[in-house]
Amino acid sequence: MDSWDALKRECADCRRCELGSTRTNLVFGVGNENADVMFIGEGPGEQEDRKGEPFVGPAGQLLDTMLEIIDLDRTKVYIANIVKCRPPRNRDPLPDEQMACIGWLQRQIELVNPRILVFLGRIAATAFIRADFRITKEHGQWYNVLGRPAMALYHPSALLRDPSKRPETFVDLKQLQQEIRKLS
Ligand code: URA
Repeated sequence: MDSWDALKRECADCRRCELGSTRTNLVFGVGNENADVMFIGEGPGEQEDRKGEPFVGPAGQLLDTMLEIIDLDRTKVYIANIVKCRPPRNRDPLPDEQMACIGWLQRQIELVNPRILVFLGRIAATAFIRADFRITKEHGQWYNVLGRPAMALYHPSALLRDPSKRPETFVDLKQLQQEIRKLS
C-alpha cells in the first residue's frame, strides 16, 4: 500500500526530467490530505520555487479569494500541480516534462481520494480531461475524471491578466459549491 511518507521520500530527490536540475525547491503539494476537493494547477512559478509551496505568489492570493467565495480555505482542500518543478521563465511545462512528473500527482490523487477534482487552467485540463480541451469554451462544465466529477476553471494567472473573465469564474465557483454541498 502506498503511503504519504513513501511518496514524499521518493519524490523529494526526483530527477525524472530536466526541471529537476534548475529548481530551487520541489513543490510537492499542500493542504488537507483527506480533502473532498483537490485543485490541480500547472506548475510552480518563481515564488513557489523559492518557498517549495504551491500558489504562494499573486496567483495564489487570487486562488485564496476564489476559495473564500465558496467557503473553503487551504486547510480544507488539497492543492498540487501537473509539474513539481518550475519551468524556466515560467514557460508552459513541455509534454515530456508533464509525462515524467504526472505519476507523482496520480499517486497523490489516489492517496487524497478526493470526491471532486478541479483543474486550474488549460494545461491541467488538457492533461486530465482531453488533449484538445478548450478552456475558453469548456470551463465550468462537468466531466468524469478517474471516476469522479471534475471541472476546469480559468487559471488564477489568467484572471489576473484579464479580469473580464472573473464573472464567468464566479458562476463556475458557485456551481462547484453546489456540487460540494451535495456531498454532505
Ligand atoms: N501557477 C500554478 O499553476 N501553480 C502554482 O503553484 C503557482 C502558479
